[in-house]
Amino acid sequence: MDYPFIDDVENYLFKNFTSIDEFQKKVYESMLYSLSSGGKRLRPILTILTFKAISDEDIAKVIPFAAAVELIHTYSLIHDDLPAMDNDDIRRGKPTNHKVYSEAMAILSGDGLLNMAAEVLSREIEKMDSIEAIQRGLHAMRYIFTCTGVHGMIGGQVIDLGYTDTMNREVCETMYKLKTAALIRGSVVSGAILAGANDTEIATFEEFANALGMAFQEQDDYIDAAQDQAHDNNTILNYITKEELSVAIEKHTNRALKALSTLSYDTSELEALTRKLVGREL
Ligand code: IPE
Ligand code: IPE
Ligand code: MG
Ligand code: MG
Repeated sequence: MDYPFIDDVENYLFKNFTSIDEFQKKVYESMLYSLSSGGKRLRPILTILTFKAISDEDIAKVIPFAAAVELIHTYSLIHDDLPAMDNDDIRRGKPTNHKVYSEAMAILSGDGLLNMAAEVLSREIEKMDSIEAIQRGLHAMRYIFTCTGVHGMIGGQVIDLGYTDTMNREVCETMYKLKTAALIRGSVVSGAILAGANDTEIATFEEFANALGMAFQEQDDYIDAAQDQAHDNNTILNYITKEELSVAIEKHTNRALKALSTLSYDTSELEALTRKLVGREL
């Protein structure tokens, strides 16, 4: 996706990789392999577009948060592909991290990326120059890590891996809300918090991001089915037809757009992105 500020996010990300010793070089190489293998950068784009919709301040302020969500996303994919999880050999058209660097290194580089997200954010918050800025920074950081924790993304992965007694449409939707929509919500809402959104506005951005996250995951299933790549047993298509899935995608997209329309800010860029994601083929 073509957003000029993504170069800033990437520059910021890559400057954290200055290796000193041989062993750091090894794990950095593996981390960088997945970080630069062609992801769409959807989550950092959402963080920055949300911030921009609310605030006229320099986007430099939000870049570390945008970078952090991409670091967490990348770790989650490396671990998701491991033999103990989805056991996938290919991601983004390239061999998965563990296929290139070994399972042990894939575990460590995922750990390294997750840890780096916390390092980057705490470092930036420490540098902030007012109590208000520090409070917002901590709030945004806590928000992100809550979304990706056991009550969010990790919880969704637990459902996906079958550690649940029942599986039906409702549980599957809960799984999507946690494993996919939660990080999307963390990406959006951290941008809103940093930009100074109030509680009512934050609740609206939560509604937007949850609906967008659902539509995004449903669209992912739709694409997988169309390409006959439904390798994951836990897809909503086990419970509904493709036609019903199309209806659900439309419903969630409309819900996301409706939430945006109630805000007093210019959310046209978020709207355009939402529409673009629904029509995507990758
Ligand atoms: C893949 O997310 C995992 C899902 C939650 C569907 P993306 O489709 O955003 O992954 P990349 O980063 O663009 O490859
Ligand atoms: C990935 O979900 C979601 C997380 C890593 C949290 P999937 O397993 O459904 O996505 P793909 O198909 O591997 O991208
Ligand atoms: Mg998975
Ligand atoms: Mg997977």
